[in-house]
Amino acid sequence: MAQLPEFLKSEGYVGGQWVAANSGNRLDVLDPATGETLVTVPRMGAVETTEAIAKAQAAFEGWSRRTAVDRATVLQAWAAAMRANAEDLARLLTLEQGKPLSESRVEIEYAASFFSWFAEEGRRLYGDIIPSHRTDARILVTRNALGVVGGITPWNFPSAMVTRKAAPALAAGNCMVLKPAEATPLSALAIAALGEQAGVPAGVFNVVTGGREEAPQIGKALIDSPLVRKIGFTGSTAVGKQLMRDCAGDLTKVSLELGGNAAFIVFDDADIEAALDGAQICKFRNAGQTCIAANRIFVQESIHDKFVEALCARAQDIEVGHGLEQNVSQGPLIDTRGLEKVERLVADATEKGATLHLGGQCHAAGGTYYQPTVMTGVTPAMDISHEEVFGPVAAITSFRDEQDAIEMANDTPYGLAGYFYSRDVGRIFRVADALKTGIVGVNTGLISTEVAPFGGVKESGIGREGSKYGIEDWTELKYICLAGLEAAS
Ligand code: SIN
Repeated sequence: MAQLPEFLKSEGYVGGQWVAANSGNRLDVLDPATGETLVTVPRMGAVETTEAIAKAQAAFEGWSRRTAVDRATVLQAWAAAMRANAEDLARLLTLEQGKPLSESRVEIEYAASFFSWFAEEGRRLYGDIIPSHRTDARILVTRNALGVVGGITPWNFPSAMVTRKAAPALAAGNCMVLKPAEATPLSALAIAALGEQAGVPAGVFNVVTGGREEAPQIGKALIDSPLVRKIGFTGSTAVGKQLMRDCAGDLTKVSLELGGNAAFIVFDDADIEAALDGAQICKFRNAGQTCIAANRIFVQESIHDKFVEALCARAQDIEVGHGLEQNVSQGPLIDTRGLEKVERLVADATEKGATLHLGGQCHAAGGTYYQPTVMTGVTPAMDISHEEVFGPVAAITSFRDEQDAIEMANDTPYGLAGYFYSRDVGRIFRVADALKTGIVGVNTGLISTEVAPFGGVKESGIGREGSKYGIEDWTELKYICLAGLEAAS
């Protein structure tokens, strides 16, 4: 087994203490590339979550009363600690998640960037003074922390999704209880350990670990607690909808970053090489396991065959293997459930008439590896048009004209990201306006950055993460009517 980093933590983190589950039960954390157990972590439940909420509540008074500059200093130190340990963090991420080391390095920097960015944004949480409706009064509006907040994060970006929530939440003065994905708790625990080193006070950031069996109890404890005033969730649309229903009980705020079904459109006036670069990264990054992956690729009829041939040539060169091996550019899928889903979608599409140009099988490396795959003739009758593939399968459909492409792209209840390639400036504005998504990539397949608002419309979610907007969701407004300001007699 590869050497594990020194700061690897294998206990939950509650109130500044590294703690086991009350039951003593433990959960295996696997290397998805080998199926080998890397380490075990506690199977915590409702009682430990309630304890973490209490610790967070106890820390809230002190943390929220600090100056924004003080909090920013701690968050900047946290970012610096991540950057100083970037290589170890990246190796840990690859070990528990499977993505190639080169991608893990990018994710660690992306993750650290949220601490740097929101340290600064926390200092700019300005309020307002509104022209008053009374001569004897002033109207002040302030932006305030919510209190204790919950974070529930996925396995596909085990570092960046943690910091994209924790950084704005803490910068605004909240204290967080985080439940990382059962498959990838180690990156979250490593982030907590570095936070401790960076001076994050006990109770301000807590991590409760657990498996599939414990997740509902942990979620329920967060939702039912009157102390928890917001939950930020990244995951499936089905779970997000249920979470929102459950949060209605005591009106806990939610922000939801849910499933996507991104269209990736290539018009015949596009720079084809640029479109191929974009398609490759947008489709095959993280073995296709991103919410913003090109789920449906639409290519204009006149360039369709040329584009497919060139994409196959690129996909053929993708080196599949353990993410820690040199030159590997595609790791395994996260687990057998993920693999079975990809197999089902490919089988359904080919049965219904799609043509396989490349791949379409489990990879010879075994385990949960899947071949980079390219298929054409994909139609709305196929499940792959409607479900998030979360695998390295390029599903291509040809289209006639702009209207045709827009209609097909918008024919989905999801609305996270959409992409298109064109060099026609009129078309660029028309299509960018027409796509019903929260994010549009024009002539790029990579839109992720801490400075821009990430989030979807329709059934892809509510709220935005990252950017100056991303901190507002972790605050609430207070209006103060300051009256009695009569003129001096
Ligand atoms: C996601 O897939 O949910 C996040 C991807 C990103 O931020 O790049």
